[in-house]
Amino acid sequence: MGELKVDKHVQYILSVEKKKDSFEALVMEHLRMNGAYWGLTTLDLLQNVASVDQEEVISWLMSCWDRESGGFAGAIGLDPHLLYTLSAVQILALLNRLDVLDIEMISEYVAGLQNEDGSFSGDMWGEIDTRFSYCAICCLSILRRMDKINLGKAVNYILSCKNLDGGFGATPGGESHAGQIFCCVGALSITGSLHHVDRDLLGWWLCERQCTDGGLNGRPEKLADVCYSWWVLSSLIMIDRVHWIDKSKLTEYILNCQDSENGGISDRPDNAVDVFHTYFGVAGLSLMEYPGLKPIDPAYALPIDVVNRIFFSKF
Ligand code: FPP
Ligand code: ZN
Repeated sequence: MGELKVDKHVQYILSVEKKKDSFEALVMEHLRMNGAYWGLTTLDLLQNVASVDQEEVISWLMSCWDRESGGFAGAIGLDPHLLYTLSAVQILALLNRLDVLDIEMISEYVAGLQNEDGSFSGDMWGEIDTRFSYCAICCLSILRRMDKINLGKAVNYILSCKNLDGGFGATPGGESHAGQIFCCVGALSITGSLHHVDRDLLGWWLCERQCTDGGLNGRPEKLADVCYSWWVLSSLIMIDRVHWIDKSKLTEYILNCQDSENGGISDRPDNAVDVFHTYFGVAGLSLMEYPGLKPIDPAYALPIDVVNRIFFSKF
């Protein structure tokens, strides 16, 4: 079996950050905040976060903050959204710089997006999805302001998106999808509500995501994709059923998706690499305790030492 090309992946991530005029940078512009979170978390898991200029990251990040609403945008001048607000908060937690935030304003912004039925809209335009329930709950937990929302209603809404197959969808009645399952199980884990989950039923659905090539898919009949190494594996760990998949076959699948010459990881072998799949590949390996990587927390999607620092320190 090959090995993880740590130095190549570090170089790849640093080079993407510099290529701001490339085609990839152009189409990704509106979600640069997510990209920054994927890149920085990957560098930290690879024990290399010191290779970026943290002051430069923080000053750019704060220029994406909309002081009127209290939320963060995906890039300077765009509209704020919960997806980018969570990424910004995760980045500052990772860099140990939550002190630069107006925690009160940000948590008011997040709480203001909760609807009467307990669900969350992603932004002022109102789209509802369990992804946004996760973003809100994870973000408020990191900021230690969970008291700002109606937690009982938030949990009940997530449970209303649970299906008979044990999985979860984006809205009530929505098809089970591993990405949504991560969001729902993650939010239930953070709020101490996992007793509502039938672990064997959901664990069975999740472990059936492993394909003959060793990779994981996101729904029945779909091809394996490296990003599901994260969505599926993190969920299995949270419900204590990760021993139901073949870890060595999955490790081999992820390593086969590396560009061994130029760095980066793709969705499947021989495809073009991107930062998103590089992050999920490295995070998946970290969940499987691959040697030399920092361990990652399956619910907060941040290195475990970062999560410990948030909850065991005063700020
Ligand atoms: C599949 O995406 C993934 C999801 C639906 C979950 C997305 C979750 C978040 C944005 C929450 C924040 C996440 C983290 C890790 C902190 P897709 O559109 O690629 O699905 P497809 O494979 O069906 O196209
Ligand atoms: Zn993917």
